[in-house]
Amino acid sequence: QLILDTLDAHSTISDTRSLVIPGQSEPAASQDAQIAILGALNSLLSRDMVKFETHEIVSHVLTPEGSQIAVEGSHEARVWSALPAKGQGAPVTPAQLMKQVGDETAKVGQGRAFKNKWIGKEGDGLVKLASTIKDSTQIDLLEIQSSGTLKSGEKDLADLRKRKLILQRKGQWFTVQKGTEFSTSTAKPETDLTVEMLTSGAWKTSTFKKYNFEAEGAPTEGGSLHQLLKVREEMRNIFLEMGFAEMPTASYIESGFWCFDALFVPQQHPARDLQDTFYISDPPHSLDPEPEYYKRVSTVHEHGGYGSTGYRAPWSHEETTKLLLRTHTTASSAHMLYKLAAKCRGEDVEDDRQDSAGGDEKAKHDDGFRPAKLFSIDRVFRNETMDATHLAEFHQVEGVVADRGLTLADLIGFMKVFFAKMGIKQVRFKPAYNPYTEPSLEIYAFHPILKKWVEMGNSGMFRPEMLEPMGFPKDVRVHGWGIGLERPTMIRYEITNIRTLVGHKTSIEGIENSPAPMF
Ligand code: PHE
Repeated sequence: QLILDTLDAHSTISDTRSLVIPGQSEPAASQDAQIAILGALNSLLSRDMVKFETHEIVSHVLTPEGSQIAVEGSHEARVWSALPAKGQGAPVTPAQLMKQVGDETAKVGQGRAFKNKWIGKEGDGLVKLASTIKDSTQIDLLEIQSSGTLKSGEKDLADLRKRKLILQRKGQWFTVQKGTEFSTSTAKPETDLTVEMLTSGAWKTSTFKKYNFEAEGAPTEGGSLHQLLKVREEMRNIFLEMGFAEMPTASYIESGFWCFDALFVPQQHPARDLQDTFYISDPPHSLDPEPEYYKRVSTVHEHGGYGSTGYRAPWSHEETTKLLLRTHTTASSAHMLYKLAAKCRGEDVEDDRQDSAGGDEKAKHDDGFRPAKLFSIDRVFRNETMDATHLAEFHQVEGVVADRGLTLADLIGFMKVFFAKMGIKQVRFKPAYNPYTEPSLEIYAFHPILKKWVEMGNSGMFRPEMLEPMGFPKDVRVHGWGIGLERPTMIRYEITNIRTLVGHKTSIEGIENSPAPMF
């Protein structure tokens, strides 16, 4: 405030050592005062309220002994004050003097006091000769204390330095001018323009803090992949390195036709019940599937065909068009397999795969089939009672391999390789039942921590009742499997309750601290 008021009155400060702090008689010429002034100048400079230049000088400060003298007077002055005036009391003996002012002061002080003719001998003792004295050492030190130097010049300074009463120190002082944002108010600049400032009009007189475009900003915590996504990435990489292509699985909503009928799941199957499947109420029905394929599917269900007796149960069109949340990603696989068989059905589809050597001769026998290896990892929905290990939605890792003459051994072999790549070396298979696969196998893996066999998934060779209506040649075999993503993830991160993995109770810390899996 002193700087701003002085600038306001005189427009410049030519030497900050001349500033007089209110309430003090002497100017703030000392280096301590200049350091305080520099702090104020820097803060005002950052707000463009002042500009200033720095001047380097050599300055002096008092040593501890010098500071003591500045307060109590010089040794010689203390000796002088301890003595009686000549003829006005008993002279003080040197021994008495030492007791009164201390050995050091008595010794050093006597010599100087004699030299100055302040004291003299009387008998064995000492007395004052001068009635008043001028303690120039104290006066000089006080001057240095407040100004950092002596007006009398270098000779006296050198003398005091030699007496180790002062030390040389680099000092600074400043010349100050008004800055572009000069004002006599030191109110902190505003950092925000508020509604209140706009309505009251205070914005007109406020000073605003300037943007600091050089600021580095606070470091932000990086995002982190959820454990399921980490394991998904790991599994996706295993599929990709084994030559699989990823299927599109964006449509959570499917029709009863693609989720069940195309897979030869009977329309009366309990999995299609309301208790197991979430049906969509608005809109409740899908468009009709492609009519010829639809006919082949409904026929194999109702009357059989392709060597099958079918279910011989009445067919419901209503059931087939019901919209639902897919209960497995095998619905997506069915779409992809139907597409894969397009050329076999004689449809004119673009084939981006190159024929190998053999050209024309091969083309003559070409039934349009091309082998495929496909996978997907995405969400499915089941109307489950939720508990520690079950939710109404979870992720399936799904794969299908289509080729001529595949056998169950290929499926088992694939599973062994796939799980081994995840670090699970012990796998076992158990016969199972699926409406769309025959034979079907449940896959079990030995859990090294739980020390028991846990179910990992379900698999099988797709039935002719499913593949042949799609148009696949009779010698084409397709095997498929579905593995849950949650279970291997929970095992990997030793999570026992699924609610800490997904949902509103998810542990964010757990997500951040989970390392990427390296099975
Ligand atoms: N769809 C089956 C399931 O949800 C998994 C599976 C896929 C089984 C493909 C066989 C073939 O469990």
